[in-house]
Amino acid sequence: MPKNVVVVGVQWGDEGKGKVVDTLAGHFSIVARYQGGANAGHTVLVGERKYVLQLLPTGIVRPDKTAVIGNGVVIDPEALRQEIRKLRDAGTSVDGRLLVSDRAHLILPYHRAHEAAAENARGDGKIGTTRKGIGPSYEDKAGRRGLRTSDLRNPAKFREKCKALVAEKNRIDAALYSAPPLDAEELTEKFLQLAEGMLPYLTDVSVYLNTEMDRGKRVLFEGAQGTLLDLDHGTYPYVTCSSAAAGGACTGTGVGPTRINAAIGVSKAYATRVGSGPFPTEALGAEGEKIRERGGEYGAVTGRPRRCGWFDVPLARYSARVNGLSSMIITKLDILDTLAEVPVGAEYEIKGKRFKDFPAEIECLEQLKVHYRTAPGWQKDTFGTREVSQLPQRARDYLNLLSDQVGVKIAMVSTGPEREQCVWMDEAVLCP
Ligand code: GDP
Ligand code: IMO
Ligand code: MG
Repeated sequence: MPKNVVVVGVQWGDEGKGKVVDTLAGHFSIVARYQGGANAGHTVLVGERKYVLQLLPTGIVRPDKTAVIGNGVVIDPEALRQEIRKLRDAGTSVDGRLLVSDRAHLILPYHRAHEAAAENARGDGKIGTTRKGIGPSYEDKAGRRGLRTSDLRNPAKFREKCKALVAEKNRIDAALYSAPPLDAEELTEKFLQLAEGMLPYLTDVSVYLNTEMDRGKRVLFEGAQGTLLDLDHGTYPYVTCSSAAAGGACTGTGVGPTRINAAIGVSKAYATRVGSGPFPTEALGAEGEKIRERGGEYGAVTGRPRRCGWFDVPLARYSARVNGLSSMIITKLDILDTLAEVPVGAEYEIKGKRFKDFPAEIECLEQLKVHYRTAPGWQKDTFGTREVSQLPQRARDYLNLLSDQVGVKIAMVSTGPEREQCVWMDEAVLCP
């Protein structure tokens, strides 16, 4: 009985999903992305080579794997083309092993233009998006006016729809932001020419995945972003616009929930966030700076400094619940090696009342006080460690504390950016 697994970010993204998916992918035939777009930046290190995957599933770096982009992903054809070219320049071809859903929505230039204008107009209240046009594309999807990859198969119809949409966007952006109009004719023709390159990859991903599963092939569903950036379960409105949590794997690929056997949550041994929004355990000042420098916490795509802080138990418990996590993978343990003490956010308090559940209201998240537990630091080098027995006792105590507090077992600990730099605590997670 093959086992299909979804890997999901526990926090606000950048947990090290790329590294983890690359490590796990050896045990699977297919890696499928189910949401998000080129806002993702999944870093994979293979020997001397560093890949930052944005739209392409991480499995693409292994030449014997098939990579699938599901219907829940929003695709900017230019971003896809550039990524394929970059990979080819690095000696990796996607030919014959990349499939793109014919139901995925497209990102058009007006989405990026609209997002930039809207973010600029928000001033201090801005979301801090990646400005890739992700939100506006999902808005059009929900508004039932989006353009899908399958629309590219009928250029005449595509032209008609696209021109009407540009005219509509021009009216909105001129009225709201005094933005200059886009040329409908030019935009449409250029886009069509560019997007035609995607046609050979288009397929019915639901048919493909279900058929391959029937044949005994194992599928790894690769989440982008993280649970706290999920449109429904995240720190709304400071979220992305897709279903990053595990449930998104079903809606985003056309695979039913009964066919996914496990959900693995990836969390850093501490916490980071990029962009605006609440971050209860944020470490401001020198403390946060220290983690940022040691952890190299700068955006893989935008280069923006990531906000840094401590592992947050109520947040991880929340994430474990909404994803139904079967196990966790803790990354970047090595970054904490030098600390004398490691704070862990244990409980929240508002107006004298202590609680452990992650609240819905943004105002609560901004006001709450965090009660910390302090774990003794191990102050020993764990970088690249591969055996549990080689982990310092205090590092193991720290991991046990996280696991006990969250109520989810830890399957693996990552001790460096490379594929083999990890300690397996429970390899059963990989067994069919
Ligand atoms: P993702 O978006 O979740 O895939 O994460 P990113 O790739 O954006 O950020 C994670 C960063 O941490 C990347 O630079 C990885 O190479 C790096 N990384 C992942 N796991 C480890 C680890 O265990 N130790 C160290 N030192 N770096 C890691
Ligand atoms: P990976 O897959 C971290 C954040 C942005 C912003 C918010 C909305 O690498 O973990 P968007 O452009 O999606 O509308 O921006 O979400 N964000 C991420 N933060 N990692 C990511 O992806 C992210 N993708 C989006 O910074 O706060
Ligand atoms: Mg990232």
